[in-house]
Amino acid sequence: MKKLFAVLGNPIGHSMSPLMHNDLFSYYEIDAHYLPFQVRAEDLEDAVKGLRAIGVGGFNVTVPHKSSIIPFLDEVDPLAKSIGAVNTVVNQGGKLIGYNTDGPGFLKGLTACYPSITGKKVLVIGAGGAARAIYFTLAKEKPVTLDIANRTPNNALSLIKDCPYSVVSNAYSLEEAGKQLVEYDLIVQTTSIGMSPNTSELPISVNEIKKESMVCDIIYNPLETKFLQMAKQHGAQIQNGIEMFVYQGALAFEIWTDIFPDVKRMRENVLRQLGGHTC
Ligand code: ATR
Repeated sequence: MKKLFAVLGNPIGHSMSPLMHNDLFSYYEIDAHYLPFQVRAEDLEDAVKGLRAIGVGGFNVTVPHKSSIIPFLDEVDPLAKSIGAVNTVVNQGGKLIGYNTDGPGFLKGLTACYPSITGKKVLVIGAGGAARAIYFTLAKEKPVTLDIANRTPNNALSLIKDCPYSVVSNAYSLEEAGKQLVEYDLIVQTTSIGMSPNTSELPISVNEIKKESMVCDIIYNPLETKFLQMAKQHGAQIQNGIEMFVYQGALAFEIWTDIFPDVKRMRENVLRQLGGHTC
């Protein structure tokens, strides 16, 4: 019998996950289908009960339910628990187990072209949900420093305090961090600044970026934010948010099927959907 997979969010119409996972199910000849469901916060518990009752294979969880889903699950893996957010759930013999593949997805996408973070000086821009998943995951990779720059430095301090993994870390304002960008080997932009339609906005001044640095932006619409364009002009290597999106999906697919899928195929599929160029 065909297995159901799903993504729960609100709104959900824009999600590219159905396209990505349905293509993989047919490519690997798995009898399954992935559907988007728009779920209001007050209906989340019922939605999970319904999915459980019909024997869902697994599902993704997106904004705004990544934290509020946790009480409705049977188990949550330690990284997701420390982050306080779940984006992937698997049904293991009737037990719903939650994972967070956002941080590990970012790391896997990064290390495909930037092999090691160990010994590197890293700056994360932003202190929201995405920053938290990325920061906690990178903290385990033993960077020399893992600093955060945020509009509200107190939010960055709270995030640093919550991290269960030991790492040297300072919180800065965006202005302070902008003046010392030359210090960093890796810079990861996690805020929504520069996302379409506000494509002319910059989260931080890039004048002090060093030429040898790696600069990532988790935004993929546009494919190159102004921040990435300017970092490239300064000679930095850049990566957009497609890699994190594709790898978080690949890790979810692996949790559900034990198959680590063809990420090149996934990337091409997503880029085609976005109207970008495939490489
Ligand atoms: P997500 O869960 O997608 O990461 P979020 O939790 O809303 O989104 O986090 C948004 C992040 O972007 C925060 O770091 C926020 O800064 P504050 O902690 O000061 O709120 C940052 N952010 C959002 N809009 C911003 C803006 N216009 N200027 C500067 N920072 C902004």
